[in-house]
Amino acid sequence: MNERKIKTAVLISGGGTNLQALIDAQKSGIIKHAEICAVISNRADAYGLERAEKAGIPHYVVEKEKTVKDPSGKPDENDSRIKQADFERKIVEILKSSGAELIVLAGFLAILSEDFTRLYPERIINIHPSLIPSFCGKGYYGLKVHEAALSYGVKVTGATVHFVNEIPDGGKIILQKAVYIKEGDTPEILQKRVMEEAEWELLPKALELVSEKMLKKSV
Ligand code: GRF
Repeated sequence: MNERKIKTAVLISGGGTNLQALIDAQKSGIIKHAEICAVISNRADAYGLERAEKAGIPHYVVEKEKTVKDPSGKPDENDSRIKQADFERKIVEILKSSGAELIVLAGFLAILSEDFTRLYPERIINIHPSLIPSFCGKGYYGLKVHEAALSYGVKVTGATVHFVNEIPDGGKIILQKAVYIKEGDTPEILQKRVMEEAEWELLPKALELVSEKMLKKSV
């Protein structure tokens, strides 16, 4: 049996329930070919950091510094570029020092530039709480996705795990699962159902699928 596992870094911003699903799946053996080597949060108060601590996984906080405003009061674009590059450089340093070969964005709300995504072609996985290509792309994150699905009036939504490239939510799809919308759903109720019925099952499965393929290619 191949003992080698793909070292995987998980990037988070909040509660970390998807991270927890990965930790649990690693323990229960659903994930056999990957191991979480680092958790990186762009927010110091993310509860997911406690989950990493409890599971004994090295965890780090990398916050993007606030962009200064130009004389007209708009965010200074040059300053923003510098701070984005600095933010990504710090993340890359941690990824390198922890030996990460694969990156999972599990509710990571910060933007990653093309300079970053280009470094890891088909090595960054994201979970999105809708059936892509519906309700995805720029501006569709968190509750906004579920608000949009409900206001459109679709009867089925779901979750998608996909590779990350320079197009927001535009990389190759790995797995999808549908979830029915019910009468009386609010964005909050729907968000919870999509997580319980789709996200927490799909993300570990996708990580296992991708890491197994990576190991097969390297033998
Ligand atoms: C999930 O709905 C995920 O799909 C989205 O952000 C949420 C993260 O939740 N991108 P958690 O931090 O994993 O609990």
